[in-house]
Order: sequence, then C-alpha cells, then structure tokens
Amino acid sequence: MKIHDILIVGAGLTGLRAAFEGITADLDVAVLTKVHPLRSHSCAAQGGVNAAIDKDDDWRDHAYDTVKGADFIGDEDSIELMCKEAPQAVLDLDDLGCPFSRNEDGSIAQRAFGGASFARTAYAADRTGHAMLHTLWEQAIKHGTHIYQEYHLLKIIKNKLGHACGVVAMEIATGKLEVIRAKTVLIATGGYGRVYKANTNAMINTGDGIALAMKAGANLADLEFVQFHPTGLKTSGILISEGVRGEGAYLIGKDGKRFMSKYAPNKLELASRDVVSRSEAMEIMAGNGVDGAVFLDVRHLGRDLILERLPQIRQLSIDFEGVDPVDKPIPVRPTCHYTMGGIRTEKLGQTNVKGLYSAGEASCTSVHGANRLGANSLLETIVFGKFVGKEMVRFIKQDYIQQEDLTVDEDVCKDTVELLNKIKNQSSESGIRPAILREKLTEAMNKFVGVFRNEELLAQGLEKILEVKADFEKVCVDDKSDCFNTDLLTTLELGNLILLAEATVKSALERKESRGAHTREEYPARDDENYRKHTIASINDKGHVVISYEPVRLVNNDRYKPVERVY
Ligand code: FUM
Repeated sequence: MKIHDILIVGAGLTGLRAAFEGITADLDVAVLTKVHPLRSHSCAAQGGVNAAIDKDDDWRDHAYDTVKGADFIGDEDSIELMCKEAPQAVLDLDDLGCPFSRNEDGSIAQRAFGGASFARTAYAADRTGHAMLHTLWEQAIKHGTHIYQEYHLLKIIKNKLGHACGVVAMEIATGKLEVIRAKTVLIATGGYGRVYKANTNAMINTGDGIALAMKAGANLADLEFVQFHPTGLKTSGILISEGVRGEGAYLIGKDGKRFMSKYAPNKLELASRDVVSRSEAMEIMAGNGVDGAVFLDVRHLGRDLILERLPQIRQLSIDFEGVDPVDKPIPVRPTCHYTMGGIRTEKLGQTNVKGLYSAGEASCTSVHGANRLGANSLLETIVFGKFVGKEMVRFIKQDYIQQEDLTVDEDVCKDTVELLNKIKNQSSESGIRPAILREKLTEAMNKFVGVFRNEELLAQGLEKILEVKADFEKVCVDDKSDCFNTDLLTTLELGNLILLAEATVKSALERKESRGAHTREEYPARDDENYRKHTIASINDKGHVVISYEPVRLVNNDRYKPVERVY
C-alpha cells in the first residue's frame, strides 16, 4: 500500500502553503479536499493580509496589536512567530506572482484595518484570498502534488501506538471508501462557522477536520470564542469586508448618524471586531437599527475608488441586497465569521496525537486568543502553513520510525461503514430529515450563543443542541445511492457540527467572565486571575465532551502585560 510522507486534509491557503514546503523538500505530499481546491473558503477572504512591511512599521507593534486584540489570552510564542515572519511570508507570495495591489512606486499597497496601530494590511483589491489561493494552486500543479479531489474525510486513523497514520475518506463521485495512509497528517480544513444560521462562511465550513480530530483523541481549545463580523449583509450574511471601513466607510444607524464614537472614541469604525459587533448589537437593541441591521455608508468614498478598490463588495451588495453602495448605504449586521477555537496545537502545529498536526482556522495555536484581528487570518494561513509544513518535513526526515506504518487494524473502516449504513437504512417514515435538525441547531446557536450570552441563554442553547444530538440518532436520507450523494455527506457534516456546537456551548458556560468575543452579561469584566487560561474540550472514555484548562503560553516580555483594552 502506498504511504504518503505528508497527507494534508484541506486545500485552502494553509494546506497548499504547507504542501509547498513538503514538495520542495522532495517528499511525497498528498492533499485531500472535499471540493476543487479553488473552491476552498480561503478564496472568499476579501480585505487583506497583515504584515509590517512598511519601513515605518515594526513587527513588534503588530505583535502587540495582536496580543491586545486577542484580549491577552493568545499564545505569545505563536503570535511573535506570526508577526515576525509576516513580511517574509507576504514577500514569498509576491515572488510567486501574487497580484497584490500596488502603490504608484510599485511597492505593495496597504490599507488600515480594525484594531491595528498602523495601516499594515496588504491587499489585492477586495479579492485578496482569491489572488493568494490561485498563486499557491499554480505551485501545487507545477510541482505535481497528488490531489485527492472531491474526497470527503470520514475518519482519522491511528496505528497501534496511537499515532496518526492516515485517514478514511469517501471518493464522492463513486461513494467508495478508501484508506489513505501517511506518515504524518495535517488538518487544515478551516473553521465551523456554518454552525450558526447567519454566517459569512462557505457551505463547506462544517468543521469536519476539527470534529474528527476530537474523535481521534485530539484536544480542542477555546471554542467559546466565536467571531462575529460587524458587516455581514443583512439578508444573506455574506461578507462585506472590513477593508471597506479601512478605506473610510462609516457605520450609521436608522437616524443616519455615526454611532461608534460612543463605544470606541479613538478608533471608531476601526476598533477591533468584537467591540464593533457589540456596538452594533447595542444600537439595534436600542432601536437605532432597521429590521435587525445598521448601515455601512460608502457613498462619500466616490464611485472611482469603489470601482478600483472595492469592486467585489459593490457587486455583492447589488446582487444579494439589491443596494448599489455608490448611491445607498448597505444594511449590515454582526454575523458569525470565524471560529477562534480549534484543534489545540503547539507553536509548530503539533497536536497531542503524535503525527497529527493542524494549522489555520482548524487549529488553535492560538494566535487570535479571544478575538482575531481582521487580516490576521490570511496571515496565519501563510505563516503557519509554511512553518508547520517545515516541521512536518523535519519530523519525517529526523524522527519518523519506519516500522510504525505496519500496525493499522484491518477493520479500520468498520465503524465508518456501520455509521453510513445506519443513516442510509433509516426509514424515511420513522426517521428525521437532516434539514430539520440543521435548522434547529443553527437557529439555537444564533439565538442562545450569540454576541451577548448569559447562563440562562447558554443553558437553553445546550438543551436544544442535546435534543438535536438525540434526534440525530434517527436521521434519515432520501438518497440511498453511492454517486455524489450530497444528502448523505451533508448529514455527516451535520453530525460534526452537532459535536462542535455541544463543545462550544459547554466551553462558553464554563467561562464566567467577559473576554474578547465572549461576552457574559452577568460577568461583564475580564477576570485575569481566574480565566487567563485556555479552555480545553475533549472526549472522555465514556464518549462525553469534557472541559479542562491549560495555561497560556507567555513569553518573557513585559510588553504584553494585560491592560484594559480600549480603542
Ligand atoms: O473583512 C474582511 O475582509 C475579512 C478579513 C478577515 O476576516 O481577516
């Protein structure tokens, strides 16, 4: 049986950047993805990528902004690595031909973004992720990376020593199960924003890699920290980039007036996302919204600038909200955008399961702590894709023991086959349709685990999620076929979302403080004495989600002492 050196699950920016390290080190690298790589969610990233490349900027200021944005719970070793390596990581992409927007002198253009002390966001109009992903995809093709395209991840497998050694996946076109073996496995499958009804995420963002890593024994961390982006389109939730505010757009209420000076007198619309989302929610609750939304006003920027730097958001507003921002303010509202939590890793992506790595939004390394700064996500993908890729290469070349690959159980697919049969054989008469459960789950997350939380809301949320979990035992599908059975696959995704919803709400219930994106109404203050620690969610021997804690990785640097976070 073929054994890859590195198997990467997820073909977004993190996965392809890591693949680049493996293939240029002459290793056998395979990338497995449930969609065509260019349909990965990285492609949807709009506003840009942070890096202190300007001569007047300093990576240390970027690191400070990030630690502060994270509300002093980010892992400082990882944050320093990310910010220090950011300029080179962006220049690597530039060298590979990424079409960044330019200044008159040819240097890479940068714009302001939220929570940043310097305009350090490099961009390609408002399609930055698209430009970066195509650049790395070209490299993957050029170097002959093996792509398992349209393969659905079903299980992470371990050998008898408990080390990750491959996956079970379904070829979507045929329904055939395959065991794909590898010396190391990287989970780079992105986040699980689809667990909320209103979100900016692609349909594919169902946290499959995170949930299956948890089932394989990996710890998850900080799931309670869910980012709500302040400017999701009112009706569809589709992202309207923070880059729009970076270019000078305002937020206004029903009264037509700007309101951010009440909440963030210095940074206004460019405060960090948690602050802006809470402010909008308060305005809406106070009656200064229309139909659950406030407005993003771009008109004063003028048609020419909008067409040059913000063409995509204009088109999205026209197509999905019926509003041309050249003439009218765009209705927007806080919308689930990003999951700060994920698979718990060390600085270089190692999980607690040997041979299993994670990076990007699927992981919690944690460079974003309790609140991610805009444009640090694309940065995380290219820095940690690069460095985790290098670490996997090092592991294979130095530490990997050849005999390990002989020890996988023969019946490794048994539980997967049983699960698939159970769902397919559930009768349509007595079973429950997945769409009904998905609706109930995502509505509960929106209603009970939103921007403002309290014990009562979270407890109600947990009750609903556990009801959905119980009903999932009776889930049925109408399509019993093997070929492209999206009925079955979206049902499996729902199972992953249910597990992550349960872990998220349990983590949120236990964090009795307000920090970053996690606002507990009955505990309005940050409590560094008791809660400057990571929440760990794992599955115990009885199959239950349990919560424990782990210290934050601090560096010996007085710059990062916690202070009150004001913008
Ligand atoms: O608003 C945006 O363009 C999103 C950027 C990000 O989430 O980093």
